[in-house]
Amino acid sequence: MLRMRWELLLLAIIYWQRGHTDISESKQGHVSVVIVGGTGDLARKYLWQGFFQLYADQVGKGHTFSFYAGALSPDEKGTAMLFGILKELACPPELSAERCALVKEQFLHLSQYRQLKTLEDYEKLNQHIKQQMEQEGMVEAGRLFYLSVPAFTYADIAEKINSTCRPVADVWLRVVLEKPFGHDFNSAQFLAKQLSGSLKEEEMYRIDHYLGKQVVSKVLSFRKENKKLLDPIWNKHHIERIEIVLKETLDAKGRIQFYDQYGVIRDVLQNHLTEIMTLMLMNLPANLSNSEEILQNKLRFLASLQEVDKSNAVVGQYQGYNGEVQEELNKTKDYVSLTPTFAGVLIHVNNAQYDGIPIFMTSGKALDERVSYARVIFKSDTFCVQDLDNVQCKAKQIVFYLGHGNLQYPAILVSKNLFKPDLVGSDWKEVTEYKDVNVLGLPLSDYYIQSPVMPRDPYCELIPQILIGRKHSFISTEGLLASWAFWTPLLDSLARVFPRLYPGGGANGNLLNLQVRGHQVSFSHEAVVNIINAGDEENFQVMQGKFRSSDMVSAWTEELVERLAADLLMAAEEAVREDGQFHLALSGGSSPVALLRTLALNLYTFPWHSTHIWQVDERCVPHTGSGSNFRSVHDLLLQHIHIPYFNLHPMPVQLNQRLCVEEDGGPKLYEHEMKQFINASSFHYVLLGVGHDGHTASLFEDTKLDVDDERLVILTESPVKPHQRMSLTFTAINRARRVSVLIMGKGKHELLTQLSRIKGESTKYPITKVQPKNGTLVWYIDYDALLG
Ligand SMILES: *[C@@H]1O[C@H](CO)[C@@H](O)[C@H](O)[C@H]1NC(C)=O
Ligand SMILES: *[C@@H]1O[C@H](CO)[C@@H](O)[C@H](O)[C@H]1NC(C)=O
Ligand SMILES: *[C@@H]1O[C@H](CO)[C@@H](O)[C@H](O)[C@H]1NC(C)=O
Ligand SMILES: *[C@@H]1O[C@H](CO)[C@@H](O)[C@H](O)[C@H]1NC(C)=O
Ligand SMILES: *[C@@H]1O[C@H](CO)[C@@H](O)[C@H](O)[C@H]1NC(C)=O
Repeated sequence: MLRMRWELLLLAIIYWQRGHTDISESKQGHVSVVIVGGTGDLARKYLWQGFFQLYADQVGKGHTFSFYAGALSPDEKGTAMLFGILKELACPPELSAERCALVKEQFLHLSQYRQLKTLEDYEKLNQHIKQQMEQEGMVEAGRLFYLSVPAFTYADIAEKINSTCRPVADVWLRVVLEKPFGHDFNSAQFLAKQLSGSLKEEEMYRIDHYLGKQVVSKVLSFRKENKKLLDPIWNKHHIERIEIVLKETLDAKGRIQFYDQYGVIRDVLQNHLTEIMTLMLMNLPANLSNSEEILQNKLRFLASLQEVDKSNAVVGQYQGYNGEVQEELNKTKDYVSLTPTFAGVLIHVNNAQYDGIPIFMTSGKALDERVSYARVIFKSDTFCVQDLDNVQCKAKQIVFYLGHGNLQYPAILVSKNLFKPDLVGSDWKEVTEYKDVNVLGLPLSDYYIQSPVMPRDPYCELIPQILIGRKHSFISTEGLLASWAFWTPLLDSLARVFPRLYPGGGANGNLLNLQVRGHQVSFSHEAVVNIINAGDEENFQVMQGKFRSSDMVSAWTEELVERLAADLLMAAEEAVREDGQFHLALSGGSSPVALLRTLALNLYTFPWHSTHIWQVDERCVPHTGSGSNFRSVHDLLLQHIHIPYFNLHPMPVQLNQRLCVEEDGGPKLYEHEMKQFINASSFHYVLLGVGHDGHTASLFEDTKLDVDDERLVILTESPVKPHQRMSLTFTAINRARRVSVLIMGKGKHELLTQLSRIKGESTKYPITKVQPKNGTLVWYIDYDALLG
């Protein structure tokens, strides 16, 4: 059901604001650059350097420029701050010192500070630009506003720009925004909606500076240049797994005000790492310059991700963090922040090409080293008996190495036993001098390495792309919302989860290592530090006893489900040994959900190939519908295991294009199928739940049915919607060799008390009529239900 909603949502996003056009053609002329927040931290560290580099590259190539720093300070103070920043600009490496001094002087000459606070300030800026064009007889090409200010001011500034600084038609307006773009789907959508009142989609440039990292910006080119070699292996048959990793040694100290509201998933995974994953796995566009095609392919990829929840993720928090939060946010000593500073998430893609490939995405602060990379590890088709140092015997991988760590510089590495890749561009070079270091398990000499000729800061890489309108180097509104739509359910499900504490640095040891079981992930080692003191609960063992004179197994929910799964496995093995087959009938409803999840993890141990899955009951809705019991068995279990198609026996609730009509004879058909497949129509195992009203299967208090009615399958009426059901009868159930009744949750305590008082059968409580004639009945009751 969740899945359906998520797809609809994406569809809605894809069609939202469709008709934007790509302005890659810019006419030559004058460009006014306005950095709002132009004396702030980001501007001082990166932006002015980026625009200086842009100017140095562009001098004499057609465009002319003016640069404005806008901020709240009055002109005099702001001017002093601005020139303090500009004095420190570094020379681009390709310029001689002499030439640089000249270019820098011109750049300073073209730059000025303006107070930008009120609407009038913006109005005056507009007048100023217009006058300048007229006085100097220049043709205006465009206006670039770079908003380097807190996100909550975006809407207001965008509105001011729209109402005062919009240039005349055919002169472009581009407004650059920095993250955060919301903290979940709803807030991102709200912000996007606000902005769309003032700016058109093609005017908005949301920066993710990772897209400006040299290696990231070449992922698509690498795939395209080496398409012939990659095509045969870029799929589930050859890829073993993918890792996308950003490790930091720094902590969050000094940034807690921001960080504590976001945490590592919002700060890094939702944006940077998701972008890298998308570039690695999206369909290659036919045309690498076509922004529209690239953005659409990205959306399609995001839509194919399997939904993640907390069973697909682990979170951690470095031990000093909470103290920093108390200090920086002025909280009391008993304040506990659940914000994760570490996360590991296991992602899967739902499409034929990548189905089943585990994608690990992980990032954290206070880890043992600073490094970031994305690597594709390929399955090995070689088994080396000797000569193990032979390159053919070694790991096969492609690494997009963003920097730091052992290698220090950004590079794309391809194991020599894969292929020799083509260069991704003329500004890249092959590296043939190998330092004596290992990178991700292989000595450097085992890789073909390529790396940029000239290192460039991401902002220097991205700023020129704003000028040429290369929209696909930025985050579109659709892409942003699609990413949030993917991450928000996980964030919601983690909201109350205690992160595992880790000491930080090398002392983390194996505390943060992950272990995968099926599609779930957990920490592979026990925590040394337990946040929550284990109470007495954990000392309760599985308990055996009697309930209504049949066997009862009782335990805390998790152990109970594990125990039931183990008993079921034993029954299956016995049946397969004796009869060659195991016939299992599952009921619908909420009781078996946890069991089915657990079974889905037993991919290999359970004899699925010899197991036939039948239904105890079904709602009269199409099998593809969200209320269908068969659909939920499919979603929870069948899609994860390998079971032959002809071993599945869904109840025929839909015949002749209608649902559960008596004269279509659905029950007779199912009965016939049972007789055909199962010796004496006697299931090996029937799993039942009980409703609050004591009903079981879809047999209710009002259902007219004798215990010894000859029919095995009937249509019934439920007091709750959807009313019509198909169900096994008591006759069918009581023929089974084993019947288990699973009862969980505090809400069932009252019912259990009632049931324990009733001797024999009671029409009011249909479950009391479950009495296998020649088989065993076992009650599985969790402590919540048993003890209330
Ligand atoms: C900008 O402002 C004008 C009015 O000044 C308004 O009509 C328009 O809808 C606004 N938004 C955009 C995207 O142009
Ligand atoms: C690729 O796309 C760009 C931008 O849309 C376009 O100008 C160019 O002609 C396209 N190239 C081909 C070969 O279609
Ligand atoms: C810190 O909190 C205390 C009590 O809650 C308050 O009196 C004090 O003014 C706060 N200090 C700051 C810097 O916010
Ligand atoms: C069917 O079950 C009966 C006992 O219930 C047994 O005697 C018989 O051999 C079984 N038939 C087959 C084909 O397994
Ligand atoms: C009852 O079950 C046992 C084994 O569980 C089997 O041997 C026997 O044939 C069954 N009897 C009937 C009447 O089905």
